[in-house]
Amino acid sequence: MFGLNVDKIRKDFPVLSSGVIYFDNACMSLKPKQVVEKMNEYYYKYSACAGRSAHKLSKKVDEEVDAARMEVQNLLNAGSAEGIIFTRNATEGINLVANAIEWKAGDEIIVSDKEHNSNLIPWLKLKSQGVVVKICKGNEDGTFNLKNFKECFSKKTRLVAIVHVSNLDGVESPIGEIVKVAHLNGVSVLVDGAQSVPHKEVDVRKLDVDFFVFSGHKALGPTGTGVLYGKKDLLNNMNQFIVGGQTVLDSTYEGYDEELLPKKFEAGLQNYAGIIGLGEACRYLKRIGFREIEKQEEKLNKLATELLSGNEKIEILGPKDWKKRGGIFTFNVKGMKSHDVAKMLDASKGIALRSGTFCVHSWFNAHHLDGAVRASFYFYNTEEEVRVFAKEVEKICELA
Ligand code: ALA
Repeated sequence: MFGLNVDKIRKDFPVLSSGVIYFDNACMSLKPKQVVEKMNEYYYKYSACAGRSAHKLSKKVDEEVDAARMEVQNLLNAGSAEGIIFTRNATEGINLVANAIEWKAGDEIIVSDKEHNSNLIPWLKLKSQGVVVKICKGNEDGTFNLKNFKECFSKKTRLVAIVHVSNLDGVESPIGEIVKVAHLNGVSVLVDGAQSVPHKEVDVRKLDVDFFVFSGHKALGPTGTGVLYGKKDLLNNMNQFIVGGQTVLDSTYEGYDEELLPKKFEAGLQNYAGIIGLGEACRYLKRIGFREIEKQEEKLNKLATELLSGNEKIEILGPKDWKKRGGIFTFNVKGMKSHDVAKMLDASKGIALRSGTFCVHSWFNAHHLDGAVRASFYFYNTEEEVRVFAKEVEKICELA
């Protein structure tokens, strides 16, 4: 009711005490002490393997991994813990789906024209099997075009793979509508939630998505952690991807029996510290609350937009309206290279942000642009930081 106590929250993020203005949250969020401590607890107190040995340490790992899986299940409001597969990141989750479905030549996959390479390359790779990738063109301002989307369907469409919130401009895709259209056509939907899960409430059951992936490292979690959620019947009917230890119930020299979900897809010893840390990140996010997170990001993006959009040397990517860009402010200073702008901001005031093509090369190539500068805000950022950023950008504009 009283808003976030950002000063107090910032004490949980030791990196911020260095004075950095950290606006590279769409790439990687900072980690709160609670997550690091939870991982250290694993390393210091019970750093054994899970699911194998009979001793007490191993049982403790089992318990903590199960608890982390339940945290993720709750975070996504997934129907069951078995549908939560731990991966290394969102990219791995998408590759798992791309490799575990049996494709036929001529099958079609629909993606948007703003997909991160993670949700484009695994599908383009299937072209060698005769799979066709259809690109759904969005509106001029970067918003999703449902009419174009509906026109992409044919009798051969097998999958829709779509970004939830764009890392390019912060625009949210209308997943509810997309799913309805796809399901009417008998087609499954995979959603790339890398930029939504850290920032907003996601309910995979309400959205009725078939697959959903996200990365832990953008959501306060450890690096090398991610999640694939899938509807159980779909996951049960899919082939395994990486196989070996943990993925079988039994084996002989001739063959093997597949493990059940979720282990069917979790081969080998896992990143237990990371998984347990990710569980703690979910608890932290829940404590802060997504409504408050969204409110803080909106406040910061509104301020950045108000301070900079009047400058004729600045071109904002995506909708002019800050309400449609979540916590993302992507721009170019006319006549300057994006990397030069980013380096100047870093050198002058320690402002860390991203420049270049943000792994969305395809969109930049199609628009004949060689890059942009992106400030991506999170709930631990302040209005004061945005003011410093805007002042520095204004100074850079005077040089352009
Ligand atoms: N998806 C990450 C970014 O946009 C790498 O920065």
